[in-house]
Amino acid sequence: MGSNPMGLIVALDSPDRGFEGLVEDLCGVVDGFKLGLPLLMGRGPGYAAELRSRCREGIWIADLKLADIGHVMKLTTSLVVDHVDAVIAHGFVGVKGALGELKEFLESRGRKLIVVASMSHPGAEEVYDKALPLILDAIEELGPWGVVAPATRPHVTTSIRERLGPRVAIVSPGVGAQGAEPGAALCAGADYEIVGRLIVSSPDPRSAALAVREAQRRRLASC
Ligand code: C5P
Repeated sequence: MGSNPMGLIVALDSPDRGFEGLVEDLCGVVDGFKLGLPLLMGRGPGYAAELRSRCREGIWIADLKLADIGHVMKLTTSLVVDHVDAVIAHGFVGVKGALGELKEFLESRGRKLIVVASMSHPGAEEVYDKALPLILDAIEELGPWGVVAPATRPHVTTSIRERLGPRVAIVSPGVGAQGAEPGAALCAGADYEIVGRLIVSSPDPRSAALAVREAQRRRLASC
């Protein structure tokens, strides 16, 4: 990867508000949108199509955080697959009968699979980080388009980049509300930083997004 050294994706999670205006304001300013499970469950999968009609640019990701057998993950994904470019699933379910089937399904529809390698919250140290070598084995075998790695713990993101090499896209949440500074994950090897509340909860999301971009640029200059 590395083709987009300053990637910024905005996380839309809350089911309690309409994001149509925000998507229009941020279209062309950011590199994509990640739609969370609360939003997709609350508003319905068709809301992804409604939002996308407001911005045809960038990458659109359904963050379903799937963790099931392949058959069920495909059923869940089929509800939204026509409206997004990529879907997120957990890595710990393994390849056979699970992620392998999901990847095949997504690729048959021209879509990308993104696999969670680790998470950004403190509890990720309790289980997720201990399982990381095994999860990375599965990811290496699978060969997904992208992986999720935490901005809050850049050393984990760096180790994932070192292990998986340059070809996989790393998307990294945890910037802003969860404490990571813009640009920290990019310096650690990520391609895209995912920012939710810092931008979405701002009274002026467009200015907030531009400020994140500027902070990314400054941080990258001193990596
Ligand atoms: O609002 P905030 O910037 O904390 O949003 C972070 C987004 O990234 C949320 O949508 C959350 O579900 C997601 N995420 C995360 N950690 C992961 C994977 C996804 O925080 N490992």
